[in-house]
Amino acid sequence: MNNITDKLNRPIKDLRISVMDTCNYRCPYCMPAEKFDDNYQFLKPNQRLSFDEICRIVTVFAGFGVNKIRLTGGEPLLRKNLDELISRIKQIDGINDIALTTNGQLLKKQLPKLVDAGLDRVNISLDTINADLYHKMSGNKGDLDVVLDAIDSARKTKLKSVKINCVVQNGVNDQDILPLLAKYKDTNVVVRFIEFMDVGTINGWQQDTVVQFKDILNNISSKWPLHALDANYKGEVASRYKYNDHIGEVGFITSISKPFCRDCSRARISADGHLYTCLFAHESFNLKTHLKNDNNDFLQQYIKDVWENREDRYSEVRHELKTDSPKKIEMYVIGG
Ligand code: GTP
Ligand code: 5AD
Ligand code: SF4
Ligand code: SF4
Repeated sequence: MNNITDKLNRPIKDLRISVMDTCNYRCPYCMPAEKFDDNYQFLKPNQRLSFDEICRIVTVFAGFGVNKIRLTGGEPLLRKNLDELISRIKQIDGINDIALTTNGQLLKKQLPKLVDAGLDRVNISLDTINADLYHKMSGNKGDLDVVLDAIDSARKTKLKSVKINCVVQNGVNDQDILPLLAKYKDTNVVVRFIEFMDVGTINGWQQDTVVQFKDILNNISSKWPLHALDANYKGEVASRYKYNDHIGEVGFITSISKPFCRDCSRARISADGHLYTCLFAHESFNLKTHLKNDNNDFLQQYIKDVWENREDRYSEVRHELKTDSPKKIEMYVIGG
């Protein structure tokens, strides 16, 4: 093991891998249907990293200290034989946590195989429990009941955690915060509220669509008092809270009002094998070129150089930026 740190002395611990660039939803804030229509050219299967390539990449990152792998999309469950990939990653030395971020629509049927393969945790996106609004927010693709059922099934497996991600947008779904919590406050399902972020260039982000963490916290506390918990590990994305009077846990992901770049130890890989060192990156590093050589040494040296030169802290400096970069990577390419 040869741990590496970036220019701000941050180690690399966590690798998020997009296994699929497309999605069965068309959420307006990520893949608006007008743009991602039937003519849109997604990657061809042979342009996506193969399982062999993904495992080689993970092996190299594990050698640098990565122990957590998160599989994302687009929608990762559209990738065939995902359970096979999970069981292969699980066998790589140093990897002790494999998680999945999904919209949940295709989850229930695949759950047993995924869990048997060694999946440890699942995070499911759920912005509202109003069925009509849910359908609309998925670009008229998603069925709320199917996802709620998948969440219930996931809770009954041996997964170490099941979390719900709710991106809050002012005037869109902020009225659904309390109903969502009412459903899960007496369960082990962690509900996390995410400040709507200015990822990419196509989601029409405006500061006034953001509902800030402190406002969400005050809203919840006036009905169900909460107290803060310690982070599970250094650099955890969500700030954790527990109810005073219920067993549930609530989390807040506060990239806008309380950035957490200082301990950011995450790297991201797109389905076509590009490495991104920040969710808001506007440049990427093509790993595919270095996979052509059967020897991992080149890949290893390349990744080391990229990480050691990293100085990203977008969320901390976004308010100082005068203009938005037109080249910021889109959410669906790196899955959050
Ligand atoms: P856990 O390992 O369960 O804590 O997962 P996670 O919260 O890191 O991953 P998930 O895919 O569930 O992401 C939840 C939200 O956090 C999404 O909106 C992500 O875009 C956002 N997020 C995750 N990592 C980062 C990060 O490094 N920076 C920023 N700004 N947002 C992030
Ligand atoms: N801001 C915050 N979260 C977002 N997500 C997608 N787009 C945004 C955005 N602009 C969430 C998804 C999913 C997670 C990976 O990122 O809803 O839960
Ligand atoms: Fe929606 Fe997630 Fe699919 Fe984007 S990747 S369209 S946020 S379900
Ligand atoms: Fe990490 Fe970039 Fe997110 Fe900051 S904005 S926490 S550097 S991914």
